[in-house]
Amino acid sequence: MAPYHPPSSGRRNKLRLDFNENTVGASPHIIDFIKRYLTASDLSIYPEYEHALEDLARHFGVQQTELTLTNGTDEAIQLLINTYIDDDAEVIVLRPSYAMYRFYSQLAGACVEELDYRAGKLAFPLEELLERITPRTRAILISNPNNPTGTGIGVSGLEKILRKAVNAAVLVDEAYYEFSGVTMLSRLRHHPNLFVSRTFSKVYGMAAMRCGCLFSQAVNMAHVRKAQSPYSVNSLAAMAARIAVQDPKFVEDYVTEVLAARELLYVGLEQLKIPYIESQANFVLGQVGDRAVPIRDELRERGVLVRDRSYELPGYLRFTVGTRDQIQRLLDELERIW
Ligand SMILES: Cc1ncc(COP(=O)(O)O)c(C=O)c1O
Repeated sequence: MAPYHPPSSGRRNKLRLDFNENTVGASPHIIDFIKRYLTASDLSIYPEYEHALEDLARHFGVQQTELTLTNGTDEAIQLLINTYIDDDAEVIVLRPSYAMYRFYSQLAGACVEELDYRAGKLAFPLEELLERITPRTRAILISNPNNPTGTGIGVSGLEKILRKAVNAAVLVDEAYYEFSGVTMLSRLRHHPNLFVSRTFSKVYGMAAMRCGCLFSQAVNMAHVRKAQSPYSVNSLAAMAARIAVQDPKFVEDYVTEVLAARELLYVGLEQLKIPYIESQANFVLGQVGDRAVPIRDELRERGVLVRDRSYELPGYLRFTVGTRDQIQRLLDELERIW
């Protein structure tokens, strides 16, 4: 198994356009609340989730029995795999996509089948996936919109997959939902094999907290919870998530800013004659060519972090979209070294 080693140090005090995080930080209400109300006893007691579950179920419009609080999406993926996948079970993942799908599947001893995004515009390979699904398919893991391509698939396409993959747990990872507006959450009760995940790591600016949610029908959630450690989400994260959903304006304002900045990035890349893939998320793939790694390194020296994806998509760097000012800085630096 290949180890997964994302950069995990030396990112502070740089313009971080490499991890698709919120580039302005979490809502100030979260910090205020923690400073004002966190007590010594809050830290000394093992976590209790009832208030968080109540508030988050209300926010997402589901029953508490249809939601599991997780230690980031990563735990949601791991739980789903551990619950439904035995040795040699067939799991379909797309390529390129979020690395942890393959990671946890391989760890569980699954037989992992990879299906490529379509060459060129990196569109979702719907027909190809439908052909690949068999009664032996036990799980399908889809990021929508997809990291790193930024491309997505609509509700009707996902429903075709759910109807064909009757023996599979189908995860629709909606880590970037707020930027695309496409969700399967309202379809939960129609599809017994549907699982949806959301995270507080991206638009909410809480990646350090490690908090996410997994949704499915109550009977599935009961199975999944059996595979979970009783205290996997820490109390601070659960507290912060409750505050975060009470501040919808923070999310709306950030999404509006990112969508404007994404347009600015498109225009800037066109001026530099760098082809790019249109994205439904807060990141854009730019085809900078053979010098992808040196360009990434040079940007880093100038204090701007971007992600190299050329090892799987030759010539491509991935730019996280932050504010318009931040994107202007990226474009200025790119122009200097281009
Ligand atoms: C598609 C996708 N899912 C999940 C995650 C990770 O989310 P979390 O921080 O909630 O584990 C990422 C992070 O890059 C991602 O791109």
